[in-house]
Amino acid sequence: MPPPDRVRVQGWPPRDRGGREAEENGAMLSENVQQASDRFRDLIRSITGISLPPHKVQMIDQRLRRRVMAFGLPDTETYLAQLMAGALPKDELGQVIDLITTNTTSFFREAEHFTFLIDVVLAEKMAQVRHGMPARFKLWSAAASEGAEAYTAAMVLEEARRAGKGCDWAILGTDLSQRMVDRAQAAIYANDQLSTVPAALQRRYFLTSDDPSVAGKSRVVPELRRNVRFRHLNLMDHRYPVDRDVDVVMLRNVLIYFDQTDKEQVVDRLAGHLLSGGYLIVGHAESMVVRHPALRQVRPTIFRKV
Ligand SMILES: C[S@@+](CC[C@H](N)C(=O)[O-])C[C@H]1O[C@@H](n2cnc3c(N)ncnc32)[C@H](O)[C@@H]1O
Repeated sequence: MPPPDRVRVQGWPPRDRGGREAEENGAMLSENVQQASDRFRDLIRSITGISLPPHKVQMIDQRLRRRVMAFGLPDTETYLAQLMAGALPKDELGQVIDLITTNTTSFFREAEHFTFLIDVVLAEKMAQVRHGMPARFKLWSAAASEGAEAYTAAMVLEEARRAGKGCDWAILGTDLSQRMVDRAQAAIYANDQLSTVPAALQRRYFLTSDDPSVAGKSRVVPELRRNVRFRHLNLMDHRYPVDRDVDVVMLRNVLIYFDQTDKEQVVDRLAGHLLSGGYLIVGHAESMVVRHPALRQVRPTIFRKV
């Protein structure tokens, strides 16, 4: 993290100088606003790794106002400067991350990826297992949000294992947001979030309780939970403390937050954790950003390590 004086934002948010003064200073003012906006984006990026598109600066600034007010501070600039100086409570950075990131996810999102996982990736793995390779399938959900992606993979891998078409499996879910990691670990979902889970899988892999405190909610069964772990991990970090023999990395709907250089570096680092012959799966909006000498595109959003 850079020292506070390098990232201190001055002039953000821009003072509202309306009326004639604004007209007279129009050119200079818009230049100042632009510079302040750039500094704000640099600061957010240096704190979280997230590259805010310029058009989102205003929106994020507004979201942060709640935190500014919570501390009785005069403006976002002071709040961010205090955050960088370590003058705010330790979990405050998590609040900023939660206000900036989008955690949208669902069970069986982009469902064809899970069909591919079983029909192609697991089938290839089982052919290797028959030739003496270890019978353990490892999947990493690298921007796991609240865990729906990881538990969807868990359900289909467990179904395959029960049907004699799979093997033991282990799933790691990681996310920048500690709040999401905690939720994923708890594995408790509102019942309407299960609408995309086939009824038979709902019955087999989710539990309800008579406890009124969890009314309208279901929890993933312990048999799945014990093989799915979640950890905090920032994809912008230079090294990931994760195994290097992973069969599948799911990196869906997160590259959109990073600038081009960061996208390439994240993909490069993740490729280093895949087994040779392993797969990287990205979101539908992201296939164009994956260009890597060790990754061969086999479907629009699926890449195989050669
Ligand atoms: C839109 S959700 C995608 C969830 C899931 N992969 C899916 O496709 O349904 C994006 C997630 O990426 C996480 N994220 C954003 N920046 C990150 C970073 N630098 N490192 C790790 N996770 C990050 C966010 O916290 C959020 O939970």
